[in-house]
Amino acid sequence: MNRREFLLSGVAALVISGPAAAQMQDHSEHGMPGMEGMSGEAGKMAAPRSSLALPEGAPLRDLPRLANRAREPGHFEAELTAKPAIVRFAEGIDTPILAYEGETPGPLIEVTEGDKVAIRFANRLPGEETTIHWHGMPVPAEQDGNPMDPVASGADRLYAFELPEGSAGSYWYHPHPHGRTAEQVYLGLAGAFIVKPRQDPIPAAYGDTPLFFTDLRLAADGSIPASTMADLMNGRVGDHVLVNGQKKPVLTLPAGSRRRFRLFNATNARFLRLTFGTAAITLIGSDGGLLEAPVTGLRAIDLVPAERAEVIVAFEQPGRVVLRTEDVDRGWMGPGRPDTAAELMTIEVTQEQAEPAPPLPARLRRIADLGLPVATRRLEFTETMSMGEGGMKMGFLINGAAFDMGRVDVVTKAGQTELWEIANLADMDHPFHLHGTQFQLVETERDGRVSKAPYRAWKDTINVARGQTVRLLVRQDQPGLRMYHCHILEHEQLGMMGVAEVRA
Ligand code: C2O
Ligand code: CU
Ligand code: CU
Repeated sequence: MNRREFLLSGVAALVISGPAAAQMQDHSEHGMPGMEGMSGEAGKMAAPRSSLALPEGAPLRDLPRLANRAREPGHFEAELTAKPAIVRFAEGIDTPILAYEGETPGPLIEVTEGDKVAIRFANRLPGEETTIHWHGMPVPAEQDGNPMDPVASGADRLYAFELPEGSAGSYWYHPHPHGRTAEQVYLGLAGAFIVKPRQDPIPAAYGDTPLFFTDLRLAADGSIPASTMADLMNGRVGDHVLVNGQKKPVLTLPAGSRRRFRLFNATNARFLRLTFGTAAITLIGSDGGLLEAPVTGLRAIDLVPAERAEVIVAFEQPGRVVLRTEDVDRGWMGPGRPDTAAELMTIEVTQEQAEPAPPLPARLRRIADLGLPVATRRLEFTETMSMGEGGMKMGFLINGAAFDMGRVDVVTKAGQTELWEIANLADMDHPFHLHGTQFQLVETERDGRVSKAPYRAWKDTINVARGQTVRLLVRQDQPGLRMYHCHILEHEQLGMMGVAEVRA
């Protein structure tokens, strides 16, 4: 075995020498002699397991908010800066991060549908470009932080857009620069963006609590280490899942409380399966806002990277309820698949009785029928491994091609409903995400068995499990270039992304 050939080359492909699986074990156990030429941690197969414990059990904090400086109603104006910061995750140990407004997660941006939003962004990241992408939001293509529109280090730009009626929902914002998205996100750049409806059908007595999940890996010295080869292949899974930036915070509620939670998976690559002890969960919203009617009696909520959900949970009896994520097997390359089960938050239900709250309405809103599709497209996800000269070449591809910023992969027409069929022919699950619009799931198919979508919902991110095909109704209403990609950010960065041009 020639370890010197264990290489990382280009943006689109990994080149690994010899039978990769066998080497991975070897590398993780014995380190990587002969890897002096490789940059960062990429030569190590497995992440060094952190010995750093984080303090747990603090009261759940509210996310800090980005202040609105506008004078007139109907406007939201603010400034947002990305720059390095030092924070303390572990007691007494500094961790250098990248942060919006000095914090991770970044400040919560909360506006009302119909608002005109103007955010002046300052990129103060030394030596690297970035963008802000408004994940899931119906913003014009040139305001959406595409990799083609970078903000240079030291530069400012204004992001301006108007949020139409009906766009209320739980979105998020994160960087999207070419080739650095994964790093900028795991180093701390991500925040929640909530668009409130003018009239909210959910009783105010349920509260409205965002739970923003991020993933953190800390080295023993408190630093956030670079990604390993295993991270690049599988997507980076860190040591800690944080909730609003905290490890296992505590929320205290009186008995009989009903709570509304907005759940955001802002991790690079963790598949969450969330449970609130044995409490039944009522699903009321998806990526693009409320459902038409509540879906009751759920035991768990699956949330793949970048996905969001709104739920109502009733805490009837005094006692302790733990919000957990179960282990999800979403396909893994090589040894060392992490056990991803974890306790995320504790809800202490006290003896005190909550005021009786009004019931949840049976109808929440109408979701538009997109009509019959006039065109059909098929996207195929593949992972390729080919033995070439002196090594194995690996790629994460859509329709056989790796991302090329200068290439348009799909041309569509604004206002036209299309059927998009996404087929995963690979060995790992890949969450599909499309910019610029919300789509509707029609059905999924696996081993010839078709399952129809059980209810209508607006989605911008959906898991496509290995061996599965999902069919989506898609309509883009605004012209311009839109990205679609796997939202395991390491896969997006290694090529699993394409460009759709929407023509007026
Ligand atoms: Cu959440 Cu292309 O992004
Ligand atoms: Cu997006
Ligand atoms: Cu993927």
